[in-house]
Amino acid sequence: MTDKPLSFDSLQELLAGFGQQHVLHHWHALSQSQQTILAAQVRELDLPELASLVRGEYGSTDFMALAARAESPPAVRADGSGADWSQAQAKLRGEEALRNGQVAAVIVAGGQGTRLGFDQPKGMFPIGPVSKRTLFQFFADRLLAVNEIYGCRIPLYIMTSEATDQQTVDYFAENDYLGLPFEDVKIFKQGTMPAVDSSTGKLLMQNPGSLALSPDGHGGTVAALDRSGCLADAAKRGVIHLAYIQVDNPLANLCDPALIGHHLMAESEMTTQVVRKRYPMEKVGNVVLVEGQVQIIEYSDLPAEAAEATNADGSLKLWAGNIGVHLFNVNFLRRIGSLATSLPFHRAAKKVPHIDEQGRAVAPDQPNATKFERFIFDLLPLANNAFVVESLPCEAFAPVKNGDGSVTDTPSMARKAISDLHQGWLEQAGAWVDQGVQVEINPRLALTAEVLREKIPANLRIDADRYFDIRLES
Ligand code: UD1
Repeated sequence: MTDKPLSFDSLQELLAGFGQQHVLHHWHALSQSQQTILAAQVRELDLPELASLVRGEYGSTDFMALAARAESPPAVRADGSGADWSQAQAKLRGEEALRNGQVAAVIVAGGQGTRLGFDQPKGMFPIGPVSKRTLFQFFADRLLAVNEIYGCRIPLYIMTSEATDQQTVDYFAENDYLGLPFEDVKIFKQGTMPAVDSSTGKLLMQNPGSLALSPDGHGGTVAALDRSGCLADAAKRGVIHLAYIQVDNPLANLCDPALIGHHLMAESEMTTQVVRKRYPMEKVGNVVLVEGQVQIIEYSDLPAEAAEATNADGSLKLWAGNIGVHLFNVNFLRRIGSLATSLPFHRAAKKVPHIDEQGRAVAPDQPNATKFERFIFDLLPLANNAFVVESLPCEAFAPVKNGDGSVTDTPSMARKAISDLHQGWLEQAGAWVDQGVQVEINPRLALTAEVLREKIPANLRIDADRYFDIRLES
């Protein structure tokens, strides 16, 4: 697209072809550098694609019909059933891949914590129940632990957006890359999509010199990994698998050897970790099998009737909840490279502040705009042998989505989940934790209950909140 012209007349002609010439309404009042920025934004637009999106030409899915055809996906269940290999065999395979330096980590951290009411990047949210460590620190400590155990150096690729990039970059630089070798941490920005007025389809302007742009969804990860050189970096390091998580789940077991092993044993190009849904309308995507293909039906798209359907034994028919933890084969991502940019767009009605043609600021109190996003999990149907691994929510899922006081997925609930899990480990190791006391274990001390047993004194009594750091003070 770089060969598109930049002059007012040619931009005007280009935009007018799609009824979007209002974008240049304030052009002559802009400084030259503002004009350059706006021209670059226009040049980046795929106007024919946008026109089709506005016209709804990409079709709308009949989710009721889709859900009616949906079956339980091929999965290894939490009790180990569903696979021809054992959990122990899977763990050994995953450990081998880690030892051989074949795994890299990807964290998507482009979302703004709007629902959480936090005005910094979500990764900087202090989630440690006792330590107050941030989400980013949770994952850095986990990677350091895995590096130490398996003698490897896992590269970490962090995807940010326009809104979270600079603060994330500064945070890592100011905090010595959280102890990770700085050459192993790459922070890259995702792409953008313009928001349009939902009744007219016209591009919204954030200010006279800029379109109202938003992140293009985590479906933009593959393109952004490629554009930023991360895929090339991974190839240079001999990485074969990408372990992907969302930044908002402190219990995400980033680079878990058993999950990697299941992915390898199943010869899968994309594996996704799930939890059994706790209730039908839980706000998690539904991992299903439709006509032989694994796919995810997002909670917002699933009709209540389908969500509530049960098997003869009363269990939920659509049981597998997406926790946004995936494993990708790098060759798969390379193979589908161009296809990834043709993943479907999902539409969302949002409140988008903007200016009107007179340049007056408009702050809508009702959704006024349509945003378009791609979802990474729409890659599942394209993967060979896509596979699903069930984990227990208490060990793998504590989403931090909404501010305290909300009914679900709050920081307090996540902190309790972390403390409860670690209390269980301590008790298994023979310790006694008084009621109401919060505990937290740094993964560098122990990643599992078994390892913790060797690290703590027998009959330890914990009668006040306690953070078990890298080394135990006696
Ligand atoms: C998401 C999943 C849902 C899953 C749930 C588990 C989607 C569309 N849905 O729901 O199926 O059950 O998590 O917690 O993902 N992000 C970016 N860039 C973007 C958009 C999102 O980096 O453009 C990141 C966010 O920082 C966050 C993650 O993706 O880490 C999830 O995004 P969010 O919009 O919060 O999805 P949910 O509705 O919570």
